[in-house]
Amino acid sequence: MTGEVVERAFAVSDLASKTRIAAELDRARLGTDALLAPLSDEELRRQVSPLQSPLVWDYAHIAYFEELWLLRTLDGVGPLAEAHDDLYDAFRHARDERAGLPILEPAAARAYAADVRERVLETLDRVELDGDDPLRRDGFVFGMVLQHELQHSETMLQTLQLRDEPYPLPDRDGVTANGKGDVFVSAGSFTVGTSTEPWAYDNERQAHELELQSFRIDGEPVTNARFLEFVQHGGYDDERLWTPTGWAWRQAEAVTLPLHWGRSGEGMTRMRLGHREPLPADEPVRHVSWYEADAFARWAGARLPTEHEWEASARRGALQLAGAVWEWTSSHFLPYPGFRAFPYAEYSAVFFGDAYRVLRGGSWATDPLVARTTFRNWDLPQRRQIFSGFRCAHDA
Ligand code: AVJ
Ligand code: FE
Repeated sequence: MTGEVVERAFAVSDLASKTRIAAELDRARLGTDALLAPLSDEELRRQVSPLQSPLVWDYAHIAYFEELWLLRTLDGVGPLAEAHDDLYDAFRHARDERAGLPILEPAAARAYAADVRERVLETLDRVELDGDDPLRRDGFVFGMVLQHELQHSETMLQTLQLRDEPYPLPDRDGVTANGKGDVFVSAGSFTVGTSTEPWAYDNERQAHELELQSFRIDGEPVTNARFLEFVQHGGYDDERLWTPTGWAWRQAEAVTLPLHWGRSGEGMTRMRLGHREPLPADEPVRHVSWYEADAFARWAGARLPTEHEWEASARRGALQLAGAVWEWTSSHFLPYPGFRAFPYAEYSAVFFGDAYRVLRGGSWATDPLVARTTFRNWDLPQRRQIFSGFRCAHDA
C-alpha cells in the first residue's frame, strides 16, 4: 500500500463489508496457521488415519479452493499451477491416497497460500459486491471461501484429535451441562431454512414452512455421565437397542465405548488431543456415531430429534449448549423443496440421499461464522472422528 488517496471502484455502502471480509479472511488464516504452528513438517505430511487427509493437504486445498473461486472463477485469471486441479480437487483422490501424491511440501504450501491470499485481497479491492450476480452479491463467494477454510480448520482438529501425541490443549473446549430438563414444543407450523442469510449454503435454502406434531426435546446434549450409564447397563451388548446395520457395525468394529474413552483402575478416562484425563461427567458426550446415539436414545425410551424439530427448537432459543458438539438427528440429508445447487453441486447435491445423516448445531471447534441455526452438516452413521454428540426427543 502506498498510502496515497485512490479512487475506489466500489460504493461506500460495501466498504464496510469489504473491510469485514478482509478482516475475516485474516482471522481465518491466523487460526489455520496457529493450528499447524506446533507441528513439524513430518507431522504435517503424516497420514494419521485413513479417514483424514495429511494436514499439509488440507492447508494447500484451502488455498486451492480460494484460488479456484476468487481468482479463477470470480476474476477470470489463472490457474497458478496446472497440477493443482488433480492434487487438490477433493473428488480426484481419496483421503487416504493423498499422502502418496506429489503434493506441496509445507513451505511450498505456505508460499502458495500466501500468494493466493495477496492476489485475493487485490481482487476484493476491485470487485463489485452489489448488483445481480449471485456469486458477488453480499460477498457470497468470499463468504463461501471463508467458511470453507473455517470448516477445514475443524477437519484438521479432527485429525489432531486422532493422534496419540499430545497437542497443546485449547483454552476452552469444554462446556458443562447444568441438568436442564426437556422442553415441550406444541404442534404447529414452523419455518426452517433461510432465504435471507447472505452466506447460507445452497442446502439451507429456501425458507419453508412445515407442520410438526408436538414433541419434547432435551434442553442439553446427553452428558458423559448419562452415556456412561448406558455403557454400565450393557447398552453396547443389547442387540435390541440397535438397528441391524448399527449392530453389524458394532460387532465388526468391536465397539464397546465412545471413541477416545478408556477404562482405567480409577474409572473411565478419555483422550483429548493426546492427553489422557478423567472423563468429565457433566460435559456432552463426544465422538459417538449415529448408531451409538440412536441406541442410547432407544435405551432411554426416547428417540433422536428430526433436523426440523432441532431447528424449530433452536429458533425459539430452547436448546442449551447448542454449539458444544455436533448433534446427530434422525434425518437423512435431503434437499429442501425447490433446491438448486449453487454454486457447485459437489458441496451438497452429490451427498443427498439415505446414506448420510444430518448433524446440527456445531461443536466447540466450529467457528461461529459457520454455526448458523440453519446450517446442516452431514456424515455417515458410523463416523465418530467428528466432534459429534446428540440430544434426545420424545413424541408428546
Ligand atoms: C460439510 C463437513 C461434510 O468436510 O466433507 C469441506 C465440508 N466441503 N470442503 C466435508 C467441506 C468441501 C464438508 N462437510
Ligand atoms: Fe474442502
